[in-house]
Amino acid sequence: MSFPRQPARTPLSDAKASGPDLGHDGIAETELAEDALLGGQVDGEAVLLSRCGGEVCAIGATCTHYGGPLAEGLRVGDTVRCPWHHAQFSLRSGEALAAPALTATSCWRVERRDGRIFVAGKTAPATRRLPATPTAGAGAHRMLIIGGGAAGYAAAEMLRRLGHGGNITIVSADADAPYDRPNLSKDYLAGAAPEEWIPLRPGSFYAENRIDLRLGISATGIDTSAHRVSLDDGSSIDYDRLLLATGAEPIRLQLPGATLPQVRTLRSLQDCREIIARARPGTPVVIVGASFIGLEAAAALRARQAQVHVVAPEARPMERVLGAALGDFLRALHESHGVVFHLERKLSEISAQRVRLDDGSELDAELVLVGIGVLPRLTLAQQAGLAIDRGVLVDESLRTSAADVFAAGDIARWPDPHSGERLRIEHWVVAQRQGQTAARCMLGQTCRYESVPFFWTQHYDVPIAYVGHASSWDQLEQSGDASARDIAVRFRRAGHTLAVATIFRDRDSLTAELALEQGRPA
Ligand SMILES: Cc1cc2nc3c(=O)[nH]c(=O)nc-3n(C[C@H](O)[C@H](O)[C@H](O)COP(=O)(O)OP(=O)(O)OC[C@H]3O[C@@H](n4cnc5c(N)ncnc54)[C@H](O)[C@@H]3O)c2cc1C
Ligand code: FES
Repeated sequence: MSFPRQPARTPLSDAKASGPDLGHDGIAETELAEDALLGGQVDGEAVLLSRCGGEVCAIGATCTHYGGPLAEGLRVGDTVRCPWHHAQFSLRSGEALAAPALTATSCWRVERRDGRIFVAGKTAPATRRLPATPTAGAGAHRMLIIGGGAAGYAAAEMLRRLGHGGNITIVSADADAPYDRPNLSKDYLAGAAPEEWIPLRPGSFYAENRIDLRLGISATGIDTSAHRVSLDDGSSIDYDRLLLATGAEPIRLQLPGATLPQVRTLRSLQDCREIIARARPGTPVVIVGASFIGLEAAAALRARQAQVHVVAPEARPMERVLGAALGDFLRALHESHGVVFHLERKLSEISAQRVRLDDGSELDAELVLVGIGVLPRLTLAQQAGLAIDRGVLVDESLRTSAADVFAAGDIARWPDPHSGERLRIEHWVVAQRQGQTAARCMLGQTCRYESVPFFWTQHYDVPIAYVGHASSWDQLEQSGDASARDIAVRFRRAGHTLAVATIFRDRDSLTAELALEQGRPA
């Protein structure tokens, strides 16, 4: 069977410039409809043209996240949403309004003459300038962020973007500066993305933006009345506003041999480097758990020509999250790449070179990668006496039960206005957008976290996009065919669509997201 050719969705992607030459030839005014997004090119760069009110706007058409083609995205008012992972950009200024893109795209000057529209040179980048001197601003001078991951980094960057001139400190237990964590189970693990792609920003970014990034340091306690955080190097930091963004911790196996050195989990860049060092061509690898991370890692390790076996208790991979059709598809996809599944099985013991399963069978295993889920890192919040319910409880502004303390990302359980439920979700884009919202709230702006959850997962050359959240459903509505890599699955409960999963149906995913956001049938 042949499949439609799709561009790779990796940090190395670059949208090809195509369409009319907007610099030399321009287009007739009549060719640009009121609500259109029109892709063209200027000197080999992809440019996106649109009408915003009476103006014509031109911005770079390549998403600054992984290079998605914005001309194929969805226009919502004066913004465009990327078809690949739903970042949002201003059509007027190119500003990256919502993660996962964190950098503005370019902004171009438009000239209109003789009934035609031309795009001239680039204008200055949309990013707001760092205030020259620190400003105290309503008693919120010292912003402290615990955790240098998705939420923590996005919050720090947004604080500066919004013009906060006071202190910003990130304390991170991780030895590496904030990086693209989703890539650790995808191209980086597969050897297809070099290490220089992994940091979210170059090292100089933090000094240039006066963000005090303290790496390899853990917060050990929070005194919410004194507004003070103690650190494991014996020092402490006082704050006016505190953001807790400590993320989640992989669940460990509890069985004989579980602490042997070849038994690994994958959360940090360092974890990933150590796994790569052990995964040579031909290495027998057992992956425990058919989770997203487990299966993505299976694909990546096959690219390194390791022998990969997946042991998992369920009958069908990912069925609980994605339903039977996508579960069967994922299994067949991985099997076609040489992954061997041992489903409805658990590990009972690990020894130096082998693992034993609960039916007594044994597999060679020089590397055992455990992907059986994560638990939110709640110790700090618990010790500080914050309200907890299987996560740190926050209100719609991501405020915890303690004054001036906010929480975001994998640890936060927030009231989701779309489902009416309190949710705690482990998605990259959710964590980043919560970090961005928390920054606004920390600055005292009126703000609510209202984004519809989104995640993506990548297996070989097949991406799955998922919008909404369905913890359970009573009806699955499927259009298209997973084996043809062209499918949308709607997860419905009591007649309402809660979530939509798609393969290569980016428009469906974007329009479903918008419908869920607006409370319309998706
Ligand atoms: C390998 C992998 C692949 C993934 N792929 C995807 C994907 O494709 N799509 C998707 O939507 N999601 C994916 N995720 C999930 C996503 O990465 C997480 O949901 C997201 O990173 C959560 O962000 P966070 O800021 O809450 O936590 P994290 O990004 O985990 O950051 C937490 C930070 O807190 C620090 N920290 C913890 N405790 C302390 C302390 N006491 N003091 C100081 N610092 C502390 C940690 O060192 C870390 O820097 C993936 C996760 C992993 C591990
Ligand atoms: S490529 Fe645009 S959001 Fe990822």
